[in-house]
Amino acid sequence: MELKEKIRNRHARIGIIGLGYVGLPLAVEFAKAGFQVTGFDVDVAKIAAINKGHSYIGDVSSEDISTAVKAGTLSATDDMSKLHDMDAIDICVPTPLRKTRDPDLSYVVLAVDAVRARLKPGQLVILESTTYPGTTDEVVQPALEEGGLKAGKDFYLAFSPERVDPGNQTHNTKNIPKVVGGMNDISTDLAAELYGSIINTIVPVSSTQVAEMVKLLENTFRAVNIGLVNEIALMSHRMNIDVWEVIEAAATKPFGFMPFYPGPGLGGHCIPIDPFYLSWKARQNGFECRFIELAGHINGSMPSFVVERVSEALNSQRKAINGSRIHIFGVAYKKDVSDMRESPALDVLELLHRRGAILSYTDPHVPLLDHAEMSLKSVPEADAANGIDCAVICTNHSVFKYAEMPKRFPLVVDTRNALKNINAENVFRL
Ligand SMILES: NC(=O)c1ccc[n+]([C@@H]2O[C@H](COP(=O)([O-])OP(=O)(O)OC[C@H]3O[C@@H](n4cnc5c(N)ncnc54)[C@H](O)[C@@H]3O)[C@@H](O)[C@H]2O)c1
Repeated sequence: MELKEKIRNRHARIGIIGLGYVGLPLAVEFAKAGFQVTGFDVDVAKIAAINKGHSYIGDVSSEDISTAVKAGTLSATDDMSKLHDMDAIDICVPTPLRKTRDPDLSYVVLAVDAVRARLKPGQLVILESTTYPGTTDEVVQPALEEGGLKAGKDFYLAFSPERVDPGNQTHNTKNIPKVVGGMNDISTDLAAELYGSIINTIVPVSSTQVAEMVKLLENTFRAVNIGLVNEIALMSHRMNIDVWEVIEAAATKPFGFMPFYPGPGLGGHCIPIDPFYLSWKARQNGFECRFIELAGHINGSMPSFVVERVSEALNSQRKAINGSRIHIFGVAYKKDVSDMRESPALDVLELLHRRGAILSYTDPHVPLLDHAEMSLKSVPEADAANGIDCAVICTNHSVFKYAEMPKRFPLVVDTRNALKNINAENVFRL
């Protein structure tokens, strides 16, 4: 087959639509493997950055981008007409939720419309955006076929979920096994061939729906287990048991247990959102996902619990939240990244703000913060303790000097067990 040959000899031209946390690393990997890659985005600032050889994603180095751009293997554009020149097109656009917690497929629909207008025989189209089972065959396929070409025959169509974990030093695009499900065998085969040229292990599955469901199972598994451990944390607090010690000891079991950790709530673009894609689709089929809803409820209550712990901490020194100066350490949604999407620290800040706290924060990854009528600037850690009543560790970035915190601050509320081996009276754990 012509496309397979083109992939094997690296002559296939690859288009990546959406150059964010998922699309950019993928584009760079394909370029490194010797393919001619064109990145498509609607954000002209990102396009300009790539073409100048600058990275805006932590896990991708500017050096890799500029090497590929100079070699002519990577370029970026907002000119969607160039999609016509591509042999394989990978769609990596956002799939957020609407305010009503229903899936917002508008970005996918726009990207698919752009492809449809330029679709030509022999092209391979792959959706990577996380979405509910059925999206590829119920939404993408009919839209692409509107132009008259038939999926599986005239062009090829597959779904392949992205598993990238920003900030993870061990697992990256290349060594995370990639699940691939095509709308027919040829589509699966071609998509597997394409990814096989940059990824060590390919896991073909029987359909696009299975591939879509795999991703939602993975992320629902995390959301539910985090919900469970958060509930254990809430009950342990009532029973005066150290939940962190419990988890550490339980994790010594060599089988049948996998540790998850409590925290100030879920964050990021995946775990707080993706399970609701699944529950929405299940509802369409008359099925109610009780685990997802319950986990969402418990995880969503964690910022309030953090505020309760802050209140208890201040109370121990006869202080109220109202009027107290509270300093937050870490506002990004997880350790060592700058991503603020759905960060629970925002909820904690907002709840404290509403109760009259005077707030400040330190996060070397997030220099400025605008949220809930607050405009804050990250304070260097060395200056953070001035006049502060209570520090709250929301995100356990590696750079913070944890051992010094109980000495520098009158009170420390630790939502991440960052002060694990420090037993001081002024430290309040989750
Ligand atoms: N971030 C993660 O860690 C991660 C992990 C696994 C899966 N995913 C999934 O991958 C998908 C993309 O996520 P992301 O984190 O890369 O998002 P992102 O917001 O970082 O990047 C998406 C990019 O798409 C661009 N875009 C939006 N509409 C477009 C259009 N019509 N045409 C061209 N470009 C368009 C945006 O400008 C942006 O640059 C989502 O479905 C997400 O759930 C994300």
